[in-house]
Amino acid sequence: MAFPQTRMRRLRATAGLRGLVRETDVRAGQFVLPLFVTETDPGEGASGRAGREPIATMPGVDRLSLTALVAEAQEAAALGISAVMLFGLPAEKDEQGSGAWDAEGVVQLATRAIKQAVPELLVITDVCLCEYTSHGHCGVLREDSSVDNDATLELIAQTAVSHARAGADIVAPSDMMDGRVGAIREELDGEGFTDTPILAYSAKFASAFYGPFREAADSTPAFGDRRSYQMDPANGREAVREALLDVQEGADMVMVKPALAYGDLISAVKRATHLPVAAYNVSGEYAMVKAAAAAGYLDERATVLEILTSLRRAGADTIITYHAKDAAQWLQ
Ligand code: PBG
Repeated sequence: MAFPQTRMRRLRATAGLRGLVRETDVRAGQFVLPLFVTETDPGEGASGRAGREPIATMPGVDRLSLTALVAEAQEAAALGISAVMLFGLPAEKDEQGSGAWDAEGVVQLATRAIKQAVPELLVITDVCLCEYTSHGHCGVLREDSSVDNDATLELIAQTAVSHARAGADIVAPSDMMDGRVGAIREELDGEGFTDTPILAYSAKFASAFYGPFREAADSTPAFGDRRSYQMDPANGREAVREALLDVQEGADMVMVKPALAYGDLISAVKRATHLPVAAYNVSGEYAMVKAAAAAGYLDERATVLEILTSLRRAGADTIITYHAKDAAQWLQ
C-alpha cells in the first residue's frame, strides 16, 4: 500500500512516537576518550591550569601531565565513559623508538596511575612507534629509509607486552605493519597475558584528517608520508580484507579509521567480521566541528550528537571520540 493509505509522517508526529520507533541509540558507555599524556610537565603555561597545555588545532583538548591525566580520567569515569585511549609524548625520541616499550615510559606510568586511581575505567593503549621515533614513522627504517615491516613486528609486540604489564586492559596497534596482530597475540600469550584483548586498527587509512593529532602528539613524519603502510582512501574491499586478516591473527575487536567519510566501511567490516567494531572519530573530524561551531556556522551539540548517532547507525559498537566528555554530558 502506498500514499494516501501509507503516510510515513504518522510515526514522526510527536516526540513520544519518534522515541518509540528510534532504531539507534548512543550512550556514554560506548565512548572511548583519547588522551595525550606528556612526560615533561607543561606547568601552568598558556592554559593557566596546572599540568595542561592546550592543543591549538583541537580546542578543548590538552596535553596532560600525569597528575592532570588522572584528574581527567576520573572526570571521564564519573560521566559514564567506559574507556580512555592513551597517547604518549616522551621527553626524548630515538631512531628505534625505544621509549615505546620502556617499563618506565610515559604511557606505562600513565596506565599504572590511572588503574590505581580509577580501577573501573578501562585503559586502552595505542601501540605504535611514531610518537617515539626521531623520524616520526610508525616503524624502524632500513638503510634506504623505507619502513622495515618484519623488524618492526618484534618492537611492536614488545611495546604491547609492556603496556599489558603496566595494567592496560586492551592494547590497540595502529602501526599498520603486516602481521602485527599475530605477533602481539603470540608475545602476550607467551608472557602470560592470555586475557588481554587486542583492538586492531584494521582499516586505517592514510588520511588528511590526522593533521591536528600529529601536531598534538608531535608525530609528523620528518620526511615522506605514511602511504606505504596506511591504506589508500580509495579502497573499500581492501579494508574488509585487512579486517579479516586481523580476525585470523587473533584480533578481538576491529577498527575503522577515520569514521565520518568511511561509514560504508564500518558497515562492511561489521557484516564481514561479526566482531565488535570501533569507529575512530579522528582529530580532523573534531577540529572541523569545533571550528565551524566557534564561527557560528553550526550548532555544536546537535551536530556532534548527529555524527555519533550516524556512526552507531553505520554499525559501530564503540566510538573513539574527542567529543566524549561533552557528548556524555549532553546525553545525561
Ligand atoms: C599513530 C596514530 C595516529 C592517530 C592515531 N594513532 C596518527 C597517524 O597515524 O598519523 C590519529 C588519530 C587522530 O587523528 O585523532 N600511528
